[in-house]
Amino acid sequence: MTLASCGVVLAGMVTLVSYSVTLYRLFCAATGYGGTTRRADSAPAKMTRSTVVVRFDTNVDKHLPWRFVPAQAQVTVHLGESTLVYFRAQNLSKAPLVGHAAFNVTPAKAGPYFVKIQCFCFDEERLEGGQTVDMPVDFYVDPQLASDASTNDVDIITLSYTFFPSASPAEGKDLSRLAQTTARTKPDPVNGATQFGQRCAACHSLSQNKVGPRLAGVVGRKAGSIPGYSYSRALDGAGLTWTETNLDRWLAGPRQFIPGVRMPIGVTDTVVRRDIISFLASHPTAGPAATSDASH
Ligand code: HEC
Repeated sequence: MTLASCGVVLAGMVTLVSYSVTLYRLFCAATGYGGTTRRADSAPAKMTRSTVVVRFDTNVDKHLPWRFVPAQAQVTVHLGESTLVYFRAQNLSKAPLVGHAAFNVTPAKAGPYFVKIQCFCFDEERLEGGQTVDMPVDFYVDPQLASDASTNDVDIITLSYTFFPSASPAEGKDLSRLAQTTARTKPDPVNGATQFGQRCAACHSLSQNKVGPRLAGVVGRKAGSIPGYSYSRALDGAGLTWTETNLDRWLAGPRQFIPGVRMPIGVTDTVVRRDIISFLASHPTAGPAATSDASH
């Protein structure tokens, strides 16, 4: 089954989905759509060569007291699809420290096709004592990976980062600038509303619980906290407060972010996620319908 025909079937599913999450799950289990049946250790379908698994590996030199981990062990991406992933760095010492990041891509022959749009590579990075920062890396894998005879057998690419203490700490830039760089592309809440209608409204409304919980005011709210909605234990116990950053990770892949949750699909496009989040952020209150919701 090609991806296009999958999409057509899915479009049909969206109307059904509000009636039956179980049906949706069966559909996903049968087709593998949305990563439902994809396991971390299984290679992508060879026949289309339209996806590749990108794994993340991190190291810290023993002279730099930082913790540095990928937010996700790996992602499966379509060739040419821009994907946003995060790495988290924490300065475990009390003093500000400047680290220098070096990266490499394996297999090396895939290196030229691994394209970073925005990242923290090459730079001297400064973290205040105790500070933790989520560092975004926006990348895509050039579709030519599949047409180059020397690389068309590559279905796993590993991106590996190592942080070393900087040799010239005076040049360190404040790592928190990265958050600002991500935000610079202006989000569009109007497109967010349209996208919400197409991608989320089958299961969610702003003011009422449907298949999923109501979403007005979700930014700044505790996950799993809407009274009268029966959450999965995974989301209920996540102990997390929704921010624009973790909503982005949630929407990129709910079950990759929090294993065991019941929301079956994600949004692969970085810009669409950003727009939907800005739409949700512009609806801080649920309105009158929610008040009556909450009363029973
Ligand atoms: C097929 C149905 C379905 C679709 C489509 C869907 N969701 Fe969900 N969503 C759910 C379910 C079910 C849950 C509850 C998950 C749980 O309890 O594990 C949920 C939970 C959530 C939560 C957590 C809310 C809370 O109170 O903690 C957010 C945020 C969310 N969805 C956003 C979205 C957005 C934005 C979209 C559109 C891009 C979307 N969802 C599309 C079914 C869906």
